[in-house]
This record gives sequence, C-alpha cells and structure tokens, in this order.
Amino acid sequence: AKNVGILAMDIYFPPTCVQQEALEAHDGASKGKYTIGLGQDCMAFCTEVEDVISMSLTAVTSLLAKYKIDPKQIGRLEVGSETVIDKSKSIKTFLMQIFEKSGNTDIEGVDSTNACYGGTAALFNCVNWVESSSWDGRYGLVVCTDSAVYAEGPARPTGGAAAIAMLIGPDAPIAFESKLRGSHMSHAYDFYKPNLASEYPVVDGKLSQTCYLMAVDTCYKYFCHKYEKLEGKQFSLSDAAYFVFHSPYNKLVQKSFARLLFNDFLRNASSVDEITKEKLAPFSTLTGDESYQSRDLEKASQQASKSLYDAKVQPTTLIPKQVGNMYTASVYAAFASLIHNKNSELAGKRVILFSYGSGLTATMFSLRFHEGQHPFSLSNIASVMNVAGKLKSRHEFPPEKFVESMKLMEHRYGAKDFVTSKDCSLLSPGTYYLTEVDSMYRRFYAKK
Ligand code: ACO
Repeated sequence: AKNVGILAMDIYFPPTCVQQEALEAHDGASKGKYTIGLGQDCMAFCTEVEDVISMSLTAVTSLLAKYKIDPKQIGRLEVGSETVIDKSKSIKTFLMQIFEKSGNTDIEGVDSTNACYGGTAALFNCVNWVESSSWDGRYGLVVCTDSAVYAEGPARPTGGAAAIAMLIGPDAPIAFESKLRGSHMSHAYDFYKPNLASEYPVVDGKLSQTCYLMAVDTCYKYFCHKYEKLEGKQFSLSDAAYFVFHSPYNKLVQKSFARLLFNDFLRNASSVDEITKEKLAPFSTLTGDESYQSRDLEKASQQASKSLYDAKVQPTTLIPKQVGNMYTASVYAAFASLIHNKNSELAGKRVILFSYGSGLTATMFSLRFHEGQHPFSLSNIASVMNVAGKLKSRHEFPPEKFVESMKLMEHRYGAKDFVTSKDCSLLSPGTYYLTEVDSMYRRFYAKK
C-alpha cells in the first residue's frame, strides 16, 4: 500500500460551551488571564446527556454516512481516550453496535490509553496495519474521544471536549511520511489520574509545562536527526509549511513553536535569519535546564518567531482556542483547523505534528498533503467537518450553569441506577446521548 494515511475525517464537539472571558470574571482571576494569558477564547463541555461514548458514536456514524462508507468496509477500529468510564470494557466495544447491525464483527483493535497520546497510538496502529502483511484491504478507523474536566482551580479553564474520527487507508490525501518520526518517552508525574473515584486528574501545572517543552525539544532533535540521515541535509522550520501541536491552551503552543526556532538557532540551521540570531545570541550558552527557566529567552524567542508563527501555526489554532483541550483529540482538532482554513492551498505541502501525553509519551511526525479524489479530497473533508457551522450553532452557558453541570457530573461519575434528563433540545439531529445507567452500571444511549 502506498501513501497510507488519513482519507477522511469528522469532528464532533458538544454544542454547550462557556466563554473564557466570563469564566475569568466568575473565578475571580485577573482580567485577561484566561484569554490572553492562556490564549483561550471558549471551552466546550459535556452536560449530563453526553460523554465520551456518545460523542464517539456520533462522530463515527457521521463519518460513515457523510463519506458513504459501508460499515462492512472497516477492518480495524482503534480508539484513543483517557476518559475512564470502565476499567475493562473498551469504548471500541460500544462502537461495535454500529458495525454489528451490518453484520460486520470482524474488526481488530481496542483502546489505547496514555493521557493525551492515546489517539496517536491508535493512529499509528492503524497506519502500521495498512502498511503490514496482515492488512486485508479494508479501511482502518481511528477515534479520539475525551472529556477534559478539572477540579476548581487554575487548571479548570484548560478543559474541553470532543471526538474525532479518521478513516485510514492507502492513496490518502493526508499521507504519512512514515520514516520521519521522533519520539520521547519517559517517567514523570506531571499529570495523572490515580484517584479512580474521580474524573479529575492530579496535575502539577508547572511541571507539565516543562515536561511538554522538554518533549518538544527532544522529539525535534530525533526528528531532525532522522531527516538528516534520510535526506542528507539539515531540517529546519522552512522544510514544513505548517506545525500542529497538541494544544492544552494556546500560550503553550506559542512557546513550543518558539522553542523549535531556538533549536534551529542552536543547531545553526541555515534558515535562521540574522535578526533571529542577534535576538537569541545572549541565550546560546544556557544549559538545558536554565533555558526552561529563562523568562527572557521565552520572550525573545516568541518575539523572534512571531511572523513564522502567524504563517505556520496560527491557521491550526481555531478549534483548540474555541473548544479547549480535547486531550487525545486536541492535536487532531488543531490539524482539522488547518484543513478548515487552508484546504485549497495544501496539496504538495508538508505538515509536522507534535503529540504529547503526560506521564509521559510524545512523538513528532510528518504528513504530506495530496489533492485526493472525491470523496477523499481535502476540500470535501473541510466541507464535511463544517467547522464554522458547528462553532456558530453553539449555546453559551453562563459560568454558574457550567459549574452546576460539573457538580452534577462529579456526582454521576462512577454511579449507577440513574436516568438522565434525556433533554436533547440543544443537540443537533443525529447526535447520540446518554439516557440511562442501570443497576448493573450498563449504559444506554439514544440518537436524536
Ligand atoms: N493578563 C494577561 N496574562 C496574564 C494575566 C492577565 N491578567 N494573568 C496571568 N497571565 C499570564 C501569566 O503571565 C502566564 O503567562 P506566561 O506563562 O506567558 O507568563 C499565563 O497567564 C498563565 O498564568 P499562570 O499564573 O502561569 O497560570 P496558573 O499557574 O494559575 O495556571 C496552568 C496555568 C499551569 C497551565 C494551569 O491552567 C494548569 O495546570 N492546566 C492543566 C495542565 C496542562 O494543561 N498542562 C499542559 C501540558 S499537559 C496536558 O495537556 C494536560
């Protein structure tokens, strides 16, 4: 199989959201902390009728319908999620309801979990399958689904929720450059979920930022090294049109891209211009650790990378800024933003993705765009996803209502024997929603 990659995509996020500006005021944070400080505009959240299973049912059903894919044509289904609803039964098995109906139960794959990285593990599994000798000619399907919620406190505004479905196969408009990958995996307690009675993570915010930036650096080093071995020349920012990051909040994305430029500067890559060299020269002798602590370096590198950021990163930021951190779906939502914004200009271009999951696991990898053929064309993917329409038809909740909803969800997490309000008035037709959890903890869903 050649040019294996993403043939089709769809995204779903809850229509319920809270404005960061309103949340900021409600939380008593200083004005601008969430909007400018974190760089976030709005945050989506699941109300009591939605969860990671309903969102993934919606995303998968919608993708199959809109691209006219017969469920029998799926041979592998992989889910990435860090939202634990059951410690044994995979989310994938819930999704099998869609496929059983058409008589297809011959579908490999289960769930992958490690914080926000599970979706990337799932994606690699599917791509590797299509590239392997066990491939049977059918499509792979990857689903990233998460509801990111935090206890009250500084991390709360960095929540979000979404599900993304991606169809995997050969001759894709979004093809993997499979040899170009750099990973960094290590043991850290930056963000983890040891309390099984709560949906909320334990998070060391500052440590998680540093771990993330160190992972960016290390993955980029390995990535550049592999590129050089393969191509016989140095890689630099000028060798890719766009850079897409896992996006817990936009400020971290700005800092990460600035780090890449700093890396180019340190390696003396050819693309770094004289002005940048001048700006970053004072920091060339910092040790690695010092460089993560230096506010001056952070400022100087963000300034130096501003115009490159506007060209190569800004087009990827729309959905993460509007929806928030979607954990496993976050980097693919950023990628979906790029397709939404630039679909007609992408053919032939290279894009680099950076996926990060706390704990920690990270990979930087490369994709190449091709025009593609209907229905698997970049323009059709953009129109199917209908990002602008979905963003526009949302319902803003006041912060009080959002907090009330979080309290109810805390109560419901891990609970049994309840029925939901079944109020699906805010959901668009075709959306799945939770109706009941019975006395055996079995979950039931309906479709609007
Ligand atoms: N106007 C403008 N900017 C402001 C204002 C204001 N009024 N107030 C603060 N800021 C800026 C700060 O200067 C800072 O920006 P800087 O880093 O460029 O200096 C930014 O806003 C955040 O302020 P902090 O005081 O650093 O925020 P705090 O420590 O309260 O929380 C944090 C931020 C750590 C990101 C928290 O939200 C968190 O823990 N989130 C979850 C962890 C996370 O997402 N980690 C990322 C990788 S791991 C993952 O994906 C889960």
